[in-house]
Amino acid sequence: MTNNNDNIIQPFLRWPGGKRWLAKRINKLIDIKNHLRYVEPFVGGGSIYFRLLPNNAIISDINKELIITYKAIKNNPIKVLNILRKMPTGKEEYYEIRDKTYSGKIETAARFLYLNRLAFGGMYRVNKKGKFNVPYGGDRRVSILWENNLIVNASKALKNTKIYCNDFSNILKNCQKGDLVYCDPAYTVTHNNNGFLRYNENIFSWNDQKRLANTCFEAAQKGAQIIVSNAGNESILKLYRPITPIAVQRYSGVSCQTKGRGSVKEYIFVINKKTIHKKVISDR
Ligand SMILES: C[S@@+](CC[C@H](N)C(=O)[O-])C[C@H]1O[C@@H](n2cnc3c(N)ncnc32)[C@H](O)[C@@H]1O
Repeated sequence: MTNNNDNIIQPFLRWPGGKRWLAKRINKLIDIKNHLRYVEPFVGGGSIYFRLLPNNAIISDINKELIITYKAIKNNPIKVLNILRKMPTGKEEYYEIRDKTYSGKIETAARFLYLNRLAFGGMYRVNKKGKFNVPYGGDRRVSILWENNLIVNASKALKNTKIYCNDFSNILKNCQKGDLVYCDPAYTVTHNNNGFLRYNENIFSWNDQKRLANTCFEAAQKGAQIIVSNAGNESILKLYRPITPIAVQRYSGVSCQTKGRGSVKEYIFVINKKTIHKKVISDR
């Protein structure tokens, strides 16, 4: 599997917890050439997908509005942009648009992109009723989305990609030999309570982390090549035993740790039949 395009495509979303910082180094870690299909079950802002530009891919996420947006950009980029161009970007209008819900998919996508540009820190956070509740973050340039062709380029890149809104387990259970799967779950451990975890109505729990590790091992047993990013700490290490992770450092501007900003260690686990040869799934 090679990619269609030698150009790098800039992701169209701001996505806290996103992997833009890793995307630059990803080609050294992920080699899509020897695989038939690329699968990304926690696509979020898609930094890795847009860097790799696979020509046979599945992307998925549990965030319904995010996936409506990907599908609308894939199928109707110009219609989305036409609505977006007319949306006023002042503070008062932001709160009016934030409080609206649209039944149409194109309008929903335009609102999602608008909120993503203008919400504080580009955060996606909803309250218990599922209502988006991030305050206004200032008049950032929404026009970057059309002036820099971000939406039109993304639409072209997504042309052959299958897009789903689903829990990761339903995507991973259909993975097999020939698949390269990259999992970038919301981190449960180091980023606790900093507000950036609340991507959706439900926070990714420790139980979800365990479910993810088990599902990854099962997919690897079926022959898929799995790559998982996660927080660089002891409990995650235990969860993926006996895999020895690759440790990567990233600069953190949103660190929740009392020490504040700094360098944070993250782990990358490569799971395949070779790396789990001693693993007995039932002992986890
Ligand atoms: C760390 S972000 C992924 C960021 C992405 N790699 C990027 O570069 O932008 C984690 C994503 O997992 C999604 N998510 C949370 N729980 C999920 C679940 N149970 N199944 C699938 N996706 C989930 C969130 O909506 C969020 O978009």
